[in-house]
Parts: sequence; C-alpha cells; structure tokens
Amino acid sequence: MSHEEDHLTDSPIVERIVGPSFQQVDFNQNKLRPLSFDEFPGQRKTIENLKVYIASARKRQEALDHVIFHGPPGLGKTTLSRIIASELGAPFQQISGPSLDKPGDLAGIVASLEPRSVLFIDEIHRVPIHIEEILYSAMEDFSMDIVVGQGAAARTVNMPVAPFTLVGATTRLAKISSPLLDRFGIQERLEFYETGAMSKILERSSKLLNLDIDAEATQLLASRSRGTPRIANRLIKRIRDFAIYEDQTKVSKAFVSQTLEKLAIDANGLDPMDRLILTTIKHRYDGGPVGIETIASTLAENRQTLEDVYEPYLVHKGYVSRGPRGRSLTPKGASLNLESTE
Ligand SMILES: Nc1ncnc2c1ncn2[C@@H]1O[C@H](COP(=O)(O)OP(=O)(O)OP(=O)(O)O)[C@@H](O)[C@H]1O
Ligand SMILES: [Mg+2]
Repeated sequence: MSHEEDHLTDSPIVERIVGPSFQQVDFNQNKLRPLSFDEFPGQRKTIENLKVYIASARKRQEALDHVIFHGPPGLGKTTLSRIIASELGAPFQQISGPSLDKPGDLAGIVASLEPRSVLFIDEIHRVPIHIEEILYSAMEDFSMDIVVGQGAAARTVNMPVAPFTLVGATTRLAKISSPLLDRFGIQERLEFYETGAMSKILERSSKLLNLDIDAEATQLLASRSRGTPRIANRLIKRIRDFAIYEDQTKVSKAFVSQTLEKLAIDANGLDPMDRLILTTIKHRYDGGPVGIETIASTLAENRQTLEDVYEPYLVHKGYVSRGPRGRSLTPKGASLNLESTE
C-alpha cells in the first residue's frame, strides 16, 4: 500500500512522543495531517461518538476503552489515532503489526507504557498470532504472562501493566481473529467522504500549501478525489506544481480540469488502474462474474492491492458488485465511458 508521507520504518518503535511536543513533531512530518477533531472534517458519526468516550474517560480519570478503526486506506485511521491521544492529553506510541517479530518486542513496549497512554498498532491484522496472544490479557486485565528462563527452568510470571488504550487500525477487519476483535470496546468503520467534507479538507490543505484556489475549483477537485483525503492531498499538491510551473496565481475550475486530464483522472475521478479493472471485466470477461484472482493475474497486479485499494471505491460507487462467483460490472459500471479521461 502506498503511503506518500506517512511511512513507517522497520523499527517496532517508530516514535515515542510524549505530551505537548507531540504536535510539533507531527507537524513537521506531515503538515496536512489534522491535529484535533476541530480540524478534521467528515466521519461525523465516528467523531461525535469518540468525543463522548474521550470526555467520559477524562472525567473518570481512566484509560479510554480500546479502539479499532477499519476501512479503506487513506481515510484517516492513523490521523484519528493521533488525535485521540492528543485529545486525551495522553502519551502516544506507534508500532506497526508486521514489524513485530518476537513476543518480547511487544511485551517490552506494553510493559513500558505510562498509565492511560495510547498504543497505536497500525496494520493490526498483520501482528503474528503468537504475539497477538500477549495482547489478550494485556487488553482485558492489564497484565501479561511472561515466560522467563529457558528449558526446565522456564516459568511463567504474571506482570501487571499500566492501564492503557490500544488503538488498532486495519484495512481488513475480516483478517482479525475474534478473540482480539472482541477486546476492542469501540469499533469504528471509516467511510468514504462526501464531497462537502472533501471540499473542507481541500480548503484547509490549500491554505496550508499557500495555494490560491477558488471555491468551484475546490469543489471539482473534491468530487474527483475518490472520497479519500490522501488522494485529495496528493492531487492538490500536483495542482500546485502545475500552477507554479505555469505561473498561475489563482487556480480556477478550468485549470483543475485541465490538470486532472494531464494526471489521467477522468470525469468520475477514476484513475487509469480503476479504468483498467473495469474495462478488463467488461471486455475480457463479458461483464463478469470473474474471480478476483483471475483479474489480478490478468492485470499482473497483487490481489490484496486490488481488494484493499481499488475495489472498495468501485463497489462504493456502484460500478462493481461482489458475488459468490466473483466480480461483475453493474449496469452503472457498464455504462461508464472508460475510453477517455474526459
Ligand atoms: N478528515 C481529514 N481531514 C483532513 N485530512 C485528512 C483527513 N483524514 C485523513 N487526512 C489526510 O489524509 C492522509 C491519510 O490519512 P491517514 O494516514 O490517517 O489514513 P489511514 O486510514 O491511516 O490510511 P492507511 O490505511 O493507508 O494507513 C493524511 O495525510 C491525512 O493528513
Ligand atoms: Mg494509516
């Protein structure tokens, strides 16, 4: 999955940011990332609920219950995790599921958490199962069973840990084992953004990027960004590049339209890969149904990428449907003009 500017390193401890300095560091990493709920348009239902749970935890002076965010890439799972820590006024620590290798890695991190801190595990579906088991009692009872010693001398010691909040993020909820999933008291699915929320995101980003863009232009871009803030931010940076290159001081709707054409984004906000998927189902497989494996090998693309990155939006827009025998174009999908980018 491509992350334009929110890369994780291979180290299990990516960052350890405590208290107010966290915002400073975060700002330098990705200046378009909102730092508070007030700066975060969209996902209203999720935000309203989270505000209540956070306020309650603060009043009780207890750790917030564990939270899992799921949904397609680029919709704000990582961003919201950071915002939760910041709104709780709690220390934040981030690790990535696949980077965990030995149970001791995770046990060490959990053991060193300060009370009420937020431990964010990105790609939590990729935490190996033998490590995942450490989390069960840590999440439920705030204790861990640790094996000390080796061979005949090995014994299990129960170790208390500070009450903390685990925030997990995943693009594939179905890959999470039920014992782990059951331990998340707060489960939130992030949805593709409406054009209104996307416009607000783009207004904010354009200000931060010092780009003068009019409302109609913002709206057009909002409607072509696949309901995905990461894509919107990527596109607005490219538009800024073209504006600077062409000495355009104010970005108009026509300018956005021309630029999107250069970027091969069509009138429906579809990119070349989206169109390739749709034309493959349409022409090679007669509109489907066709298995995802078959589409993946025809396009020489990774199945997971198709399922995680491309398909959710095509299904969301009602262009593709998923059935027991595979993927099919809907009548709406079949009637799209896929041959041109205009
Ligand atoms: N509601 C929002 N308002 C403004 N910007 C947002 C919003 N949501 C996400 N973004 C921006 O979009 C980008 C992607 O967000 P984020 O990294 O949180 O997505 P994600 O769901 O964690 O994606 P992935 O599944 O790929 O890890 C970030 O740069 C962030 O700044
Ligand atoms: Mg993320």
